[in-house]
Parts: sequence; C-alpha cells; structure tokens
Amino acid sequence: MILALMKQVLVKLPYLHPTNQLDLISKRERKNNTWIIIGCKRSISRQLHCNFKSLYSISRIKKFRNVAAMSTISNAIIKDHRELKQYYDEVVNNVNNHDHQQRFGNQFTWELARHSVGEELVVYPAFEKHLGVQGKEMAEHDRKEHHKVKLMLKEFQNMSASDPNYVPKLQELWKSLEEHIEEEERDDMPALEEKLRSIEGETESMAKSFGRTKAFVPSRSHPSAGEHPPFETVMGLLTAPIDDVADIFRKFPDQTISPNPSTK
Ligand SMILES: [Fe+2]
Ligand SMILES: [Fe+2]
Repeated sequence: MILALMKQVLVKLPYLHPTNQLDLISKRERKNNTWIIIGCKRSISRQLHCNFKSLYSISRIKKFRNVAAMSTISNAIIKDHRELKQYYDEVVNNVNNHDHQQRFGNQFTWELARHSVGEELVVYPAFEKHLGVQGKEMAEHDRKEHHKVKLMLKEFQNMSASDPNYVPKLQELWKSLEEHIEEEERDDMPALEEKLRSIEGETESMAKSFGRTKAFVPSRSHPSAGEHPPFETVMGLLTAPIDDVADIFRKFPDQTISPNPSTK
C-alpha cells in the first residue's frame, strides 16, 4: 500500500528524468546502502514507472521533486546560496546551543566548500567560454573572491562552537560571501543565462554537471590548492576522499540524511 503510494508520488513528478536525476540519486544511495529506487522509465504517456528495492519517506521524495525542478544553472546556484544563508542563520541565532551551532557550522562548511569548487570547475569556465573578455574578467574576479573566502573558511572549519570567536569568524566570512553571492545573482548568472539561451539545453546540462561535480569535490576548504584550475581540480580529487572519511566523525544537523559529499 505504501509502496503504491510512493509510486504515485513519483509518477506525479513532472520534471524528473529517469536517466539523469533518478539515476544519479540511485547511484548515490547505493553507496550509502539506504536506497531504494533501482530503476525508472517513462512510458509513452510520459508517466514515470519506478521499481523500488525498499521504502523511503515522502519528505525525501519531496526533496527530490525540488531537485528535479531545479533545471537551470542559475537555479542550482541560487538554491545553494539560500541553503548557505539558512545554515548561517542557524549558527548565529543559536548562541546558547553550541551543539546546534557546531552541527550547522559543519553543514555550512560542507556546503560552501563543495559549492565553491563546483562553480570554479563548471560555472567560471563557462563565463570564459561564452562571455569573451568580460567573462574572463568575471571569472578572475570571482576566483579571487573565492580564495579570500576559502582562507576564512579554513579557519572557521577548525574552530569549536564553544570558541568565543566562532560566530564572529563566521560573520566576517559571511560579509564577504554575501557580497560575492549578490554579484553572482545580480550580474554574473543573468549574463551567462542570456548567452546560454541560444544554445538549446545548455543551461540544464550545466546544472546537471554542477550537481555531479559537487559529488566529487572536497567538503572542506583547501585554499592552498589556489583558486585556479587545474590545481583546484587535482587537489580537489586528492583531498575529497580524505574529507569524505573525516566527515563521518563530524556532527551534522539531525535532519541531514547523509553529509557525505558523494551522497548529496
Ligand atoms: Fe561563487
Ligand atoms: Fe555562488
């Protein structure tokens, strides 16, 4: 009965594409030994038909719907930015609960490290490719800002929430990051989307690349890698497994299903 209900829920998700989103989800979950969907296909009537190995919660399914609706690269970037703000707020608004702060501080670090490298590998090269001289300047400017933020993140990620400088350090970091986020959303991403509009499916394809790239990049800040690929790429691939293992021993918010970078 529950299985039938879940099938119905999935069938109603209009934007899920079986060979992309679900395939990726299925791959991730198998690593964690918790997953469920072992295959989906779309019928002629465009309904999704999925096979399940075991059951999962409806809230998790709703989360996939959000992922599925995130079709453009701008939406993917903005979604990450909003999540970062949410984690930041959880830290600064819970000064008397160090355990809560530590969990969300770790979550913030995890998300920001992956988001930054994901942009450097997927989005900034696209600025250079599609926006000419202006794009090269944008990418260079953004990489420098990332480097500055990563240096602060490296300090923050090694701090304990009981440290009186924990919140001030995060606030200092957020001040720089917030300006950077505003520039990306106001200037950079609209300029890129404008160019991508003439290439069918490009922004959607880039959004998928961004999501996949984030699954393989470090979940901690490694500013010594520099802000330029290919150093970032090489260092990222070298350090990601180490971060991956160390994440097991860090505290994350209770609702985090898996903080492991290879599973989100
Ligand atoms: Fe950025
Ligand atoms: Fe960003």
